[in-house]
Amino acid sequence: MKATAIAPANIAFIKYWGKADPVTRVPQNNSISMNLSELHTTTTVEFDASFTEDSITFLDEGVVKKAEILKITNALDRIRVYSGVTLHAKVVTRNNFPKATGIASSASGFAALIVASLAALGKDTSNKNELSRLARLFSGTACRSIPDGFVEWEQGHNHESSYAVQIFPPDWWDIRDVVAIVTEEMKAVGSTEGHAIADTSLLYKARLSSVDAKIHAIKDAMQRKDFSVFGRILEEDSFNMHAVALTSSTPLVYWEPQTITIIKAVFALRAAGKAQGYVTIDAGPTVHVICESKDEENIVRVLQKISGVLRVVENKPARGARLWAEHLF
Ligand code: PMV
Repeated sequence: MKATAIAPANIAFIKYWGKADPVTRVPQNNSISMNLSELHTTTTVEFDASFTEDSITFLDEGVVKKAEILKITNALDRIRVYSGVTLHAKVVTRNNFPKATGIASSASGFAALIVASLAALGKDTSNKNELSRLARLFSGTACRSIPDGFVEWEQGHNHESSYAVQIFPPDWWDIRDVVAIVTEEMKAVGSTEGHAIADTSLLYKARLSSVDAKIHAIKDAMQRKDFSVFGRILEEDSFNMHAVALTSSTPLVYWEPQTITIIKAVFALRAAGKAQGYVTIDAGPTVHVICESKDEENIVRVLQKISGVLRVVENKPARGARLWAEHLF
């Protein structure tokens, strides 16, 4: 049987940085994110007795690294064990954005893969907590691309208790994530290494001891739709995560010169009272500017004029992973 799923990328307002268990990817802290309407992965999976090996095709992408294919075949192995089947699979997948540039392609990719694979095997895909747990095994942030809208990944203490849940539906708050993409090249250091060495930073203990209070405060700001409090917390948390990365051994610098230029431009707009945007950056040079819809146009205009900004993508809060009727093969 063949099935297709679509899953969004997500942007974290309170970041996941560091794993308590590298095998199950149970994290060191809760994290909070929003699913993105315009950045997604579509994946079709078919399992069949006539296939003699797994075949994986990325549509519309140049060079695909062996390591990426291996991650997917490893995920398929786990899905086979989980589902009690031995069949090989054909997987065709398409991202509508460049991979590994600070947009969580592994999140949307593995969320789509788990939903499409289980559906292709005739399994139930209605238990979102279970889908989220399984997605986490392949990429931590993928667990947050399963529920709809605004999401909290509850750290938990083992596989069973660590998964993401919706905290507000997509239509709760009409905020935007204006994404400025500055490179289409794969980053040199992925997030896996960053998670692994986070605790070599002297700042990491301080980060972990302050996360619970931030989670509480940001959820409260989201509940009250207090945009400035919300923005200040999410921006601080992003710089806090990068401070840990920069002071890890060896130091990780995810930014490019354009990243700084964009940060300063957003600060300048805010200082001038022209638009209230707040920046957040994942493990790459791409800058996400979080704003209210009324400020979106101004921010987009400024970002588009910055030299080195290749593309600006305007996102609304979106639904999580789901089945999709149009197959890719
Ligand atoms: O790509 P992952 O699942 O290893 O984690 C990356 C984590 C950040 O994107 C840097 C932060 C976050 O919470 O999304």
